[in-house]
Amino acid sequence: MANIFDSASRKNSVFVDRRVFDPHHSPPTLNHRDTQIRAMVMNLADALEGHIPGNMILFGPSGVGKTAASRFVGQQLEERAQVIGSSVYTHEINCQHVNTRYRVLHRIAEGLQQTGDQVIPFTGWPADRVLSETIRRMDRQGGVHILILDEMDQLASRSEDQLLYDLTSLNVLLRESRASIIGISNDLGFTEKIPGPIRSRLSAEDIVFTPYDSDQLSDILVERAKIGLRKGAWDEGTLRFCADLSAKEHGDARRAIDLLRVSTIRAESNNSDTIEIEHIQSAHKQVEHERVIALLHGLPLHQKLTMTSIIINERNGIITQTTGTIWETYTQACGLAGMKPLTSRSLSSIINGFHSASLAHVKNVSLGRRGRTKHVSSLIPRGIDAIRIMSEVDETVKLAANGSYKLQRRL
Ligand SMILES: Nc1ncnc2c1ncn2[C@@H]1O[C@H](COP(=O)(O)OP(=O)(O)OP(=O)(O)O)[C@@H](O)[C@H]1O
Ligand SMILES: [Mg+2]
Repeated sequence: MANIFDSASRKNSVFVDRRVFDPHHSPPTLNHRDTQIRAMVMNLADALEGHIPGNMILFGPSGVGKTAASRFVGQQLEERAQVIGSSVYTHEINCQHVNTRYRVLHRIAEGLQQTGDQVIPFTGWPADRVLSETIRRMDRQGGVHILILDEMDQLASRSEDQLLYDLTSLNVLLRESRASIIGISNDLGFTEKIPGPIRSRLSAEDIVFTPYDSDQLSDILVERAKIGLRKGAWDEGTLRFCADLSAKEHGDARRAIDLLRVSTIRAESNNSDTIEIEHIQSAHKQVEHERVIALLHGLPLHQKLTMTSIIINERNGIITQTTGTIWETYTQACGLAGMKPLTSRSLSSIINGFHSASLAHVKNVSLGRRGRTKHVSSLIPRGIDAIRIMSEVDETVKLAANGSYKLQRRL
């Protein structure tokens, strides 16, 4: 008897190893990040001699290899240390999940747990006690400890200053070991938010990661395709198309790899043995729609109201939107939704955020002696009803969208 999975089994799969396209897959080598890797190696080589490496902060937008480079360098460092009999330990902490002083210290101490140690509870101890236990365990281990704080800008803001104070003071308190910090952030203004005295104690070297260009993305995709896809199912020209699209829009390797993954699924579901340009085009549309919908759902309320205002302006035929025209609509939207508007400065930074997330195109223009403004247009793909999507998760948007607006001057 036929089995219902018969027709679903993937005999002529274009994939050879799907895991290669998993966002957590670590590539064995990391091309096109030589400058950044060299800068990290220069600092970290000190650890191999028992000295304290300089602190570093890795900056750059999403998907440009910050996490991958820090992992790659960390692994290489530990390997080298083992070969030459030096004691170096890396501790990677993702501050998006482990986001308070207590939890970060807890995580470091947990990594140094030995049999017979008291288990530190997830909550309940005074944070200072967790700190002294962490220091005790670091000293017991000896050597140099490299603390990698990934997504450092996600630390809950109140605990962040004290934690950074603790971590930048470690070398004063440690007796038998040393510590160094590698912070990772995609918020370029992040260090500005750290209080001056802590920032100067951190005295970190900034290592900047820039978006990949088309040639670089092409190389990255070819590397993945060689191990993840069946030989003959792809060619460099098609991958180049995928790289060109990704470089033009963002230069993000994660998104480029994901586009190739979805294109492969498209090829397979069309029973094609090869990946063609049309598979990439339709995958691109799907990925972009999903990304925009997820972003719109996740926007905080005032960002939703700002986006609603931009769209209402567009529907009203305002071709050149400025910060001023958006502000007028936004304050009316807040009134309808029963919300107090944010300041015009906050509105302006929300609009800049839309630009970074490719939800809007924002161009700064000079008005001569009348100062500066922005020209804003939404980048929501046609076919996506942004207001409906935001209303699905937020009643307040519905209230704002269903009201009537004073018609503005058409520009
Ligand atoms: N140079 C490269 N070679 C091969 N793969 C890469 C390269 N750079 C990034 N990648 C891959 O792209 C994906 C994203 O990289 P990574 O996680 O390092 O980005 P990130 O800069 O930390 O981004 P985010 O700020 O969003 O955390 C990963 O799957 C990684 O393996
Ligand atoms: Mg990362």
